[in-house]
Amino acid sequence: MKLTTEEKDMLEGKQGKAAQKAMEILETLGSIFGAERMIPVTSVQISGVSYANLGEAGLKFLTEMADGDGRARVLTTLNPAGMDVDNWQAMGISEEFAYNQKRVLDAFARMNVITTCSCTPYLFGVSPHYGEHIAWAESSAVCYANSVLGARTNREGGPSALAAALTGVTPAYGYHLAENRQPAVTVEVKGRMVENNDFGLLGRVIGEKLTVQGQKLTPYITGIEQASVEQLKSFCASIATYGGTAIFHMAGITPEAAQVSPPKQAITITQDDIDEANRLMNDAVSEEVDFVSLGCPHLSIKEIARIAELLKGKKVTKEFWITTARPTKQIADMMGYSQIIEESGAKFATDTCCVVSPIKGRFKALATDSAKACYYAYAKNKFKTMIKPFDEVVAEALK
Ligand code: F3S
Repeated sequence: MKLTTEEKDMLEGKQGKAAQKAMEILETLGSIFGAERMIPVTSVQISGVSYANLGEAGLKFLTEMADGDGRARVLTTLNPAGMDVDNWQAMGISEEFAYNQKRVLDAFARMNVITTCSCTPYLFGVSPHYGEHIAWAESSAVCYANSVLGARTNREGGPSALAAALTGVTPAYGYHLAENRQPAVTVEVKGRMVENNDFGLLGRVIGEKLTVQGQKLTPYITGIEQASVEQLKSFCASIATYGGTAIFHMAGITPEAAQVSPPKQAITITQDDIDEANRLMNDAVSEEVDFVSLGCPHLSIKEIARIAELLKGKKVTKEFWITTARPTKQIADMMGYSQIIEESGAKFATDTCCVVSPIKGRFKALATDSAKACYYAYAKNKFKTMIKPFDEVVAEALK
């Protein structure tokens, strides 16, 4: 790879041990993927933050990077951690886990990483513009950034995202290059797309059809007349989970769709396909549901306002987690939404979510509006699942 003088200095250890290690990681990655150079990034989002995923080995790596003068050179935030940093006792988290999770966050903070633990940085000010190069790791956020915002990122792993933060660059390959962002299949949607969960179901149906002969095809989607930020974040989370998709184009909705041509190869998605996905993700009945969660991906302030409206003056009968980013929760506090929600007995699980939190064995069946949450509720925790429209999920917590 052709490196600049500053990049060479980092590689030779002239800018500290952590920057050297980080540049080694990036140079190796770039060589594997045939990158010719590095490109500067304007923001980084790091995944693998939960102590449950990192363990002592991961924490040791972070500590060494912090001790080796590792400091973020660009705006860097974190993916959800394994617990609400302030309210972990209410979530049933053990003291030992909380202690270790805080050690992880302390190591990141020492590296000047902003410890907002969220998969929706684009909802609280980390919102790259069209064509901007970034290095994000969380799959739903990567898909949102590439597709909805038109920014450019590969799906980074934890170490490569941290390396990008500590150097300010990433190798120029994959979705950073225009030729790798072209669609390969047209997907015609003929179904009713109204609620967040409809978009989650659609993400599953499309995602499962995108791998052809081992190749992941980038879809050019037609037939969607409108989609809110909330619906698009739900769709991104789902298509990334079920299809490993990091970019899609949606005619009339996403910015790059107007600059690419719909491929001749086409598939059609019908309402029957969506109904079948709905059936597969609804194996729990109300009597079995003992856990309700909204906020996968993390909730917007508009969604929290709606929950407060629906819960005002009522009491929930089931464990109900509201998962969101701390800056969004702070707006909810300011507006009085948090008080209404907490008076109902529902709990904020800020900084975390029902997937990364260690809750295996605690519940039997989850109700949610998120197709991604359903996938992991079963795959990771063996919960039964119920997927419903947003308002009906809140109603489920009141039954
Ligand atoms: Fe975000 Fe957790 Fe869902 S990281 S996308 S809320 S699985």
